[in-house]
Amino acid sequence: AMIALRQLLDHAAEHDYGVPAFNINNMEQIQAIMTAAERTDSPVILQASAGARSYAGETFLRKMVEAAAEQWPDIPICLHQDHGASPAVCQQSIRSGFTSVMMDGSLRADMKTPASYDYNVDVTRRVVEMAHAVGVSVEGELGCLGSLETGQAGEEDGVGAAGILDHAHLLTDPTEAADFVAATGVDALAVAIGTSHGAYKFTRPPTGDILAIERIAAIHRRIPDTHLVMHGSSSVPQEWLAIFREYGGEIGETYGVPVEAIVEGIRNGVRKVNIDTDLRLAMSGAIRRLGVTAPGEFDPRKFFKVARDAAAGICEARFQAFGTAGQA
Ligand code: G3H
Ligand code: 13P
Ligand code: ZN
Repeated sequence: AMIALRQLLDHAAEHDYGVPAFNINNMEQIQAIMTAAERTDSPVILQASAGARSYAGETFLRKMVEAAAEQWPDIPICLHQDHGASPAVCQQSIRSGFTSVMMDGSLRADMKTPASYDYNVDVTRRVVEMAHAVGVSVEGELGCLGSLETGQAGEEDGVGAAGILDHAHLLTDPTEAADFVAATGVDALAVAIGTSHGAYKFTRPPTGDILAIERIAAIHRRIPDTHLVMHGSSSVPQEWLAIFREYGGEIGETYGVPVEAIVEGIRNGVRKVNIDTDLRLAMSGAIRRLGVTAPGEFDPRKFFKVARDAAAGICEARFQAFGTAGQA
C-alpha cells in the first residue's frame, strides 16, 4: 500500500531505524528493491529524479510503481520525488500520485548555483503549503552537498553545484536548520555533512575531518521532530568496483560512505538514506561480467536479470544494516 514519507519516518523514529531511499528508473530496479523488501520484510522508499522521469516517462514510472503496489500489497511504499528543482516540478509530481516530494531549494532552479537562504525558505514553504493540503510529505535541503576535501559538488551532470563551494555551504548549521524548519514546516530535512552524489566521494576511506557524522547529532538536538536525510549515501563497495574494473570498466580509486558511518547517523537521527550509485555500480558490474564471460549471449533478459539480482543484493544488505528489516 502507498504511504506518505511522514508516516513511514515517524514509525522509523519511534522504532530507531533508518530507511534506504533507492532511486528508480526502470522495471528491473523496482523489482530488485521490492524483492529485497519482501525477503527482509521492509517498508520501501522508491524515489524518482527528473532524470528518471525523462528516461522512463511519467506514465511508465507511475504505472510501474502501481504494479509494484499491486504485486506486493503488504509492503508499505512511499513514492518520493528526488531533488525537485521548483514548486512547479513538485506540483506535477503531486498530481502524478507521489506521496512525498523533495523541494531542493539549496540550489537555484538550474540545480547548479547555490541559492540564498531566503530563496530556499520561500520555495520550500510554498511547496509545504501545497503538499500538506493533500496529505503529501515534503523534504527540504539546507546546505549544499559537496566534498570537504575538494569543495566540488561531485556529479558533473545531474544534481550538484558547478564550481567550488566555500566551506560555509558544505556543512549544515544546526541553528539555521532550526530556523529553516520553523519557517517552512518540512517533514524531513536533507543535511550537508561532506557527502556528495556519484561514485567519486572521497579520495581515501573517510575520517571525521571529511565526513562530519557528528554534526548529525547536533542538528537532531535542535530539530528532534524533523526527520534527517542523508544524500550521497552510496558506499561504493570495493568488491563491485573490482568486478567493474576486472571486466573492462574504468573507474579510478574512490571511496564511498561506509555502512557503519550511516548506521551511526541513524543512531543520531537520520531516517532516510539516499542511494543510487551503489545500484548503478552493481548493475553495470554484473552486466560487464556477463558480457565478457558469455560473449555469445545476446538475449537482453540475461543481462537485465544479473543486473536485477546484483541490485537486489545491495538492497537486502542495506535493509539489514539500517534496521529496516522486519519493520514492514
Ligand atoms: O541525486 C542524484 C541521483 O543520483 C539521481 O541521478 O539525476 O541522474 O537520475 P539522476
Ligand atoms: P549516491 O550518488 O551516493 O547514490 O546518492 C544518491 C542521492 O543522494 C540521490 O538523491
Ligand atoms: Zn541527492
